[in-house]
Amino acid sequence: MTEYFVILKGTNKEFATAEFETLFNLYYNQKLKLEQISNVYYKFNTNIKLNYNDEIFKRLTFTKHVGILNYYGNFKDFKNQISNLEISKNYEGKSFAVNASRMFKKFELPNDLRELAAPVYDEFKEGKVSLKKFGIRFHYFYDSPENFYFVSEIYHNSMDYLGRMPKFRPVVMPYTLKSDMARGAINLLNLKNKESVLLDPFCGIGGILLEGYDMGFKILGNDISWNDLKYFKQNFEHYFPDSFKSGQVKRTLADSSTQFLKENSIDGIVSDIPYGKSCRRLGDDLYNDFLKSAKIYLKPGARLVIIYANFLEFRDIAKKYFNEVTEIDHYINKSMTRHILVLENSKE
Ligand SMILES: C[S@@+](CC[C@H](N)C(=O)[O-])C[C@H]1O[C@@H](n2cnc3c(N)ncnc32)[C@H](O)[C@@H]1O
Repeated sequence: MTEYFVILKGTNKEFATAEFETLFNLYYNQKLKLEQISNVYYKFNTNIKLNYNDEIFKRLTFTKHVGILNYYGNFKDFKNQISNLEISKNYEGKSFAVNASRMFKKFELPNDLRELAAPVYDEFKEGKVSLKKFGIRFHYFYDSPENFYFVSEIYHNSMDYLGRMPKFRPVVMPYTLKSDMARGAINLLNLKNKESVLLDPFCGIGGILLEGYDMGFKILGNDISWNDLKYFKQNFEHYFPDSFKSGQVKRTLADSSTQFLKENSIDGIVSDIPYGKSCRRLGDDLYNDFLKSAKIYLKPGARLVIIYANFLEFRDIAKKYFNEVTEIDHYINKSMTRHILVLENSKE
């Protein structure tokens, strides 16, 4: 068994844990529950050896850091026990860095970095320190002036998706979704096969599907507005110049209240449905008709992740056609909370 230390982004811990647990189960076939240490700090145990180039680490959005939790206690005991961690056996030949941080702002760090690096350095036969191009980074995460978690880093989220946030896209619309929300929602679809076709039936300018493409899926964007579909292409070609040419990304102009796709042709649906506020809601029974037809073109056992606003009646209609897996709330401001509803098509 190995114990792992995890730091999540603090914006929505329920969303962040759901994303982590869903992807962990998907890639390692193991159901786990992250155990909260405090605030954004979590841990879990598993017999699986995680590696920095595992697929899961290309997908995570709301996880900032994952490392092996080697030790918890004070510095004096740590120095006596560090040889048990077999640092040289595991990391010899790699240049290393040491970092120290406080888990809470209410105290100062007790030791300086050089003092903290010394016992680690001594464990290597030939230690090479490199603060920028390190092969392995060790962290002292202090939860009090005396005690810390000593962690060897496996994964640090580079958050490349931030470059696709609305303000950086060539085309922006007020209703568009942020790239981190989009990624998190896609990750709840429970899909890993790169041949999977991901549909956003109300794709707008493509805020969600840009992230699906980045994860390697085949993309189908549909909208009732040709204007939006034009911008959709523009956004895709800005970030991924070959996306359309390669045939990985397609778009259709259709009313999503109709059955515009073939039976069992879609592996996952993810959408931020029209709210009727800043974007038009077309068709009175739009939600009902959309869900009814989606049931036909979505494969059995496949999921939909639908984002909708608190002032909409969507969930009850959805449950007429699909099974609910979970629902997560995401606070936006005083007048709006978004719900992220995860649904599954029955298997028969
Ligand atoms: C909330 S916006 C989607 C925003 C999108 N997620 C993004 O990030 O750009 C909803 C979209 O649904 C489209 N829409 C409205 N009614 C529709 C219908 N009946 N069929 C298909 N698309 C529709 C609108 O044109 C609009 O682009």
